[in-house]
Amino acid sequence: MATAIAIDGPAGAGKSTIARYAAKTLGFIYVDTGALYRAIGLAAQRRGYAGDDQAAVVPMLSEIKVELAFNEAHEQIVLLDGEDVSGLIRTPEISMMASAVSAIPEVRAYLLDLQRDMAHRNNVIMDGRDIGTVVLPDAQIKIFLSASPECRARRRYDELIEKGMDVKYEDILNDVIARDYADSHRDIAPLKPADDAIMVDTSGEDLETSVNKLVDLMRSRL
Ligand code: DC
Repeated sequence: MATAIAIDGPAGAGKSTIARYAAKTLGFIYVDTGALYRAIGLAAQRRGYAGDDQAAVVPMLSEIKVELAFNEAHEQIVLLDGEDVSGLIRTPEISMMASAVSAIPEVRAYLLDLQRDMAHRNNVIMDGRDIGTVVLPDAQIKIFLSASPECRARRRYDELIEKGMDVKYEDILNDVIARDYADSHRDIAPLKPADDAIMVDTSGEDLETSVNKLVDLMRSRL
């Protein structure tokens, strides 16, 4: 039986930093499920569709192929129709597209088997919004990470500036607030902690401190 650790929470709470480091330390595979929704958002954007246009996005699902692969450094790569789109999906525009397509039930169903299959075949740390509640309800450890919107917007802003992108803090904060609202108010698989999730707030803490605390916690429970 493979072991699964689920990490859910809003954008910018530190999920990917924590999951990536913990996976390396524990020898697990890190699966970033947001990248899958982003790849579908990118496919819709390339066709000129609005992310919430179900009538256009649903038929598109049978025309595209989304896959996860891992490079030699065990980092996840997301492929859209065989093209490595891992870098292209990291823009604020694709963040909003991903959030919009993720509210479509057929999109979630389309990605469910892929995510479960990864977890059955490997020991995984999987991050997302509904991993502990829907995708892997039997995960051995479930963590729900959160932080204030301002703190999360600041982290995302620093990350994008570091990548050389021209962004404004206020725009990022507004995006964070809009995306939180959309992700936690959608009808299907809304962002919410599983009943048995361990709640962790990373506001005002540097991520290194949070990472160390969480890796200790995971080790003690495995
Ligand atoms: O984690 P992220 O910012 O890369 O996710 C992009 C969007 O995808 C996010 O706004 C909500 C959606 N998402 C989801 O609905 N379920 C997941 N398991 C992961 C992401």
